[in-house]
Amino acid sequence: MYLCLLTLALLHGAAGFVNRNFTGRVSEGDHCVCEVLLPDSSFPAKRVGALEDETQHLINRVEDEMQKIQEQNIRLDYCIEKLMNLTKRVERLEKMRPDELTEINFEALKKEIKEMEKTIMQLRGKVGGNNAHVESLYDEVKNISKTVGQLESLDKNNVLKAHRDMESLRKRLVDCQQDMKMKPQSTVPLGSCQHRGLSSISKPNLLQLNWKGVGFKAGAWGKDSAWNTTKKSMYWVGALNPDGRILESIRVYSSLNDIQLYKNSFDLPLSVLIKNKWNHTLAAQGAGVIVYNNNLYYNCYNSRDLCRVSLSTGVYQRKPLPNAAFNNQYSYAGVSFQDIDFASDEKGLWVIYTTTEAKGVMMVGKVNVATMTVDKAWMTTRMKPEVTNTFMMCGVLYATRSVSTMTEEIFYMFDTKTGKGEQISFMMEKMTEKVQSLSYNSNDRKLYMFNDGYLVHYDMMIKP
Ligand SMILES: *[C@@H]1O[C@H](CO)[C@@H](O)[C@H](O)[C@H]1NC(C)=O
Ligand SMILES: *[C@@H]1O[C@H](CO)[C@@H](O)[C@H](O)[C@H]1NC(C)=O
Ligand SMILES: *[C@@H]1O[C@H](CO)[C@@H](O)[C@H](O)[C@H]1NC(C)=O
Ligand SMILES: *[C@@H]1O[C@H](CO)[C@@H](O)[C@H](O)[C@H]1NC(C)=O
Ligand SMILES: *[C@@H]1O[C@H](CO)[C@@H](O)[C@H](O)[C@H]1NC(C)=O
Repeated sequence: MYLCLLTLALLHGAAGFVNRNFTGRVSEGDHCVCEVLLPDSSFPAKRVGALEDETQHLINRVEDEMQKIQEQNIRLDYCIEKLMNLTKRVERLEKMRPDELTEINFEALKKEIKEMEKTIMQLRGKVGGNNAHVESLYDEVKNISKTVGQLESLDKNNVLKAHRDMESLRKRLVDCQQDMKMKPQSTVPLGSCQHRGLSSISKPNLLQLNWKGVGFKAGAWGKDSAWNTTKKSMYWVGALNPDGRILESIRVYSSLNDIQLYKNSFDLPLSVLIKNKWNHTLAAQGAGVIVYNNNLYYNCYNSRDLCRVSLSTGVYQRKPLPNAAFNNQYSYAGVSFQDIDFASDEKGLWVIYTTTEAKGVMMVGKVNVATMTVDKAWMTTRMKPEVTNTFMMCGVLYATRSVSTMTEEIFYMFDTKTGKGEQISFMMEKMTEKVQSLSYNSNDRKLYMFNDGYLVHYDMMIKP
């Protein structure tokens, strides 16, 4: 009798067995002997079904929680508790299941989830009031639990995929942690220049390969960089022809999601095809282009002209930049035809160039947007061809040089307020060798780099 009960108890919870009729008999010595035919299967479909239900339940609860978090402006404590519950539940599932399920390596899953939990806890301590990072990480944790839910069959590939996803997530958590360590929680609001300049720069964040492909190494990309722009969510990408000179069009996306999926874009043409011949009169020359207040600013092909085209109306305007060197006379080191490079920051629109008189000494000009002229220009103490690229932040020019294939150094700054230049050193990791363009955006305090065809961005940290 005792044996019969024990067997049933063990099977309790495993749907399909409880209602089965077992043959029992009493053996010598008053033992109750039950013969139960368990299906000889390494694929316990019903149990997996139950597991799926459990996981679905988890996902629903996690999703409910996400909803709550959005509504209540992110309550991290809740996330962490949730995650702990998730871990507990996985543990419980594991205990309930007999050894048929060793194929799904729950042990490993559990360990990883625990690790994430621990990391998010640590992050929480560092983040303080700003939960945006943790929110997105939590998103990922949600996706991971979804993946576990999608283990429809017990095939190893799914398990491996879950592991891969977790591995990459874990890496990102570690990166994020390092970034957090570097980042003194800045209290300086975006757009403000009440700070003491650059303090550090994050690791590179790779968005994607440019839409034209790997053969298009030169170009520029970013968002509308005017401080008070009304187009804060739009993105633009301009990939130069493989000659590294002509930019025939730019592609404009209305949101991050669109650019990530390469969808819902429109192309703004700069070159036009007339009778089977390209007319490049209004094409851009070099990758020194920028979008500022819904206008693309660029150096017009084969000229020293500053050009601008409206992204909404397509109306062009051009004006020569007096004495400016052009046509690859004084480009940056390693890239061609960037004699005239636009930049933008909290203070407005700038152009980095040199003149024939200045013989390559880099100059910073403040562009008057109304007249398309340079109102005031500063002479730096560096030669333009000696730097790989530049960007402006709060009226300060920062210049880079290549240290190695994977490292770039911000090595020089020039403050237009004091008119003085000085040597500095901030190392920047890059994805591939050449920095084809750099531009800073004051709306998100990020630096946008076109890195041999890859769209990369960095968070800029400042000294409060
Ligand atoms: C179990 O078997 C007995 C005898 O054959 C039968 O009377 C009973 O209805 C069966 N119960 C179930 C749940 O199948
Ligand atoms: C976590 O589990 C405990 C005990 O099961 C429960 O009391 C608590 O409400 C759960 N937390 C959340 C956020 O669901
Ligand atoms: C989660 O997965 C969905 C669909 O697979 C995807 O659209 C979303 O970007 C993912 N979220 C994160 C934070 O990775
Ligand atoms: C942004 O500010 C500038 C000057 O500060 C002004 O000329 C321009 O109209 C503003 N643009 C928007 C979209 O508010
Ligand atoms: C090329 O385009 C420009 C500007 O639209 C125009 O002025 C010029 O006549 C065109 N050249 C030819 C050869 O079509």
